Amino acid sequence: MVQLAHRTVLVVGASGGIGEEVTRTLLATGATVIAQGRSTAKLQALCHYTEDLSGGRLVTFARNFSTSQETNSFATHLLNEFGQLDGLVISMGDWSTGGGAPLLQVTDEAWEKGLQNNLTSHFYALRALVPLVRPHLGAVVHLSGYSSDIPYPKAAPVSATNAGRKMLLLTMAEELAGQGPRFYELIIGMIRTRPRKQVGIDNEAWYQAEEIGQYVARLIEGEDTRAQKTLHYLTDRGSTPPSR
Ligand SMILES: NC(=O)c1ccc[n+]([C@@H]2O[C@H](COP(=O)([O-])OP(=O)(O)OC[C@H]3O[C@@H](n4cnc5c(N)ncnc54)[C@H](OP(=O)(O)O)[C@@H]3O)[C@@H](O)[C@H]2O)c1
Repeated sequence: MVQLAHRTVLVVGASGGIGEEVTRTLLATGATVIAQGRSTAKLQALCHYTEDLSGGRLVTFARNFSTSQETNSFATHLLNEFGQLDGLVISMGDWSTGGGAPLLQVTDEAWEKGLQNNLTSHFYALRALVPLVRPHLGAVVHLSGYSSDIPYPKAAPVSATNAGRKMLLLTMAEELAGQGPRFYELIIGMIRTRPRKQVGIDNEAWYQAEEIGQYVARLIEGEDTRAQKTLHYLTDRGSTPPSR
């Protein structure tokens, strides 16, 4: 059982289908979880969904990372209120923008929105928030979809931004090697989330969001041998992950 008592972890995208289970897992380990989402109502629902857990502490912030100003001012606020972080998990994205059409039919507007919501926002978040994470002992975990590596027809903007996000993280890991926190890029396939199940979309071959939460908690703890490598694939149970 992972123990993260006395550690403070920021979860970006905590109100999402994966983020809510990452948040629950971290709370169960005893961590203080700073949970970010855009919607206040969804963050209130997250508080309700985690009420059964004791031990950890949950603090929520509604913030949109669509501008560098808002992202930077959030980082300053966090540093003043919490000091350095032990962990940063970025589980942020917006599938509703930038998907759904073959590449030849992607409009300028859809392309721009896809880039803004699924790549630029991650750049802003990494640039502002990584400096808050404790060097050496702290950990940054960033989630990208498997379309970073293999094509998903009608999802070109999402694929391109997943690939871009992956390289942002891997490049930053190289740039800060030996001086920054530990970095983890988690490439995931389709995940069994609570919102997805609520609309009847589910598949036993996919990993559960709770399993992603447990994996993330182990990486942050840092004692598992898997915590020694940066790039991780958690796609579906039947597939062979690409070698590093
Ligand atoms: N679920 C899957 O099967 C799957 C598969 C592969 C990859 N992924 C990736 O994993 C990540 C999480 O997926 P998910 O299913 O949990 O997504 P989700 O349910 O849509 O949640 C996304 C989270 O990101 C937040 N967010 C989106 N845009 C933001 C912005 N500009 N500024 C601040 N916060 C923003 C959302 O806030 P609000 O709740 O307030 O909107 C929400 O908390 C995404 O990057 C997704 O692409 C997911």
